[in-house]
Amino acid sequence: MQDKTHQVDEVTGNRRMRRLRKADWQRRMVQENRLTVDDLIWPIFIVPGSGIVDPIAAMPGVNRMSIDKAVDAAREAADLGIPALATFPNVDLSLRDETGSEILNPDNLINQATAAIKKAVPDIGIITDVALDPFTSHGHDGIFRDGEIVNDETVEQLVKAAIAQADAGSDIIAPSDMMDGRIGAIRRGLDAAGHQSVGIMSYATKFASCYYGPYREAISTSGLLKGDKKSYYVDPANGTEALRDAALDVEEGADMLMVKPGLPYLDICWRMKEAFGLPVFAYQVSGEYAQIKAAAANGWLDGERAMMETLLCFKRAGCDGILTYFALDVARILSRTR
Ligand code: PBG
Repeated sequence: MQDKTHQVDEVTGNRRMRRLRKADWQRRMVQENRLTVDDLIWPIFIVPGSGIVDPIAAMPGVNRMSIDKAVDAAREAADLGIPALATFPNVDLSLRDETGSEILNPDNLINQATAAIKKAVPDIGIITDVALDPFTSHGHDGIFRDGEIVNDETVEQLVKAAIAQADAGSDIIAPSDMMDGRIGAIRRGLDAAGHQSVGIMSYATKFASCYYGPYREAISTSGLLKGDKKSYYVDPANGTEALRDAALDVEEGADMLMVKPGLPYLDICWRMKEAFGLPVFAYQVSGEYAQIKAAAANGWLDGERAMMETLLCFKRAGCDGILTYFALDVARILSRTR
């Protein structure tokens, strides 16, 4: 005869977790987190010229677009209810130099794109990345001199660049360079230039990650980058240091925080949300996108399910939204289902 204590009822008492999982209607009743179109921020790549839709090999389904095509894409995104775009330029190689001076040109590719999108699609938010890497001949995010990234001089450049971006119509400045002190300096610069209502979404912790590979192909910096970015991005081993770095950004006036990459750093998203209570966004970066696409192309993963599951997991980890190259695909799916 079986020992009574080994029977399921004895072990579980009155608590059977599977009651809440027994049917779709029941599962919907207790679902804790939901992905909605409001959670999506769509990063797009801009190239000079017109009529251009140029596929990026390592990011199947993602294209570099000329401004006219980007305007069409922005309209489609707005129609689907996506709240905001994040724009990244692929700057002509002849315009890149040691100090990234093209970032200061009020008429540079990114500022032109902002102005054109704002004019044609006024009700979508525009988030512009502020960092020197698309503009430098060495692919670093800062001014590179004598083997070093010069912090304070870079910050001065970024402040001017942020003001030019705001002048062009950018709604949110997203400093992605990880220089010390740049959030406070940019805030003061924007305010002094009359841009009090332009927000700052700080790439509060950006890790020195391998997952940016396809992005560097997309903006043509992979062949240029000398060395690595470990002297300014955070070591993937360090969570507490990441929090200390974000705390400075909060003190300096960041309105929103971003964690990048996303999925391998969900613990950081959660800790940041708990620590500061500010809106926290995750960037599901190019390499995360490429991983899912590559596995799906091989038939090793159901690509659509992997896309939806990873994005939902960001919500569970406390994120208020996600920058994702899947944004348009997801918005289309969400608009079909309920
Ligand atoms: C750099 C920047 C990077 C990304 C956006 N801005 C990383 C880098 O090149 O070091 C990565 C985005 C992605 O991988 O999707 N300022």
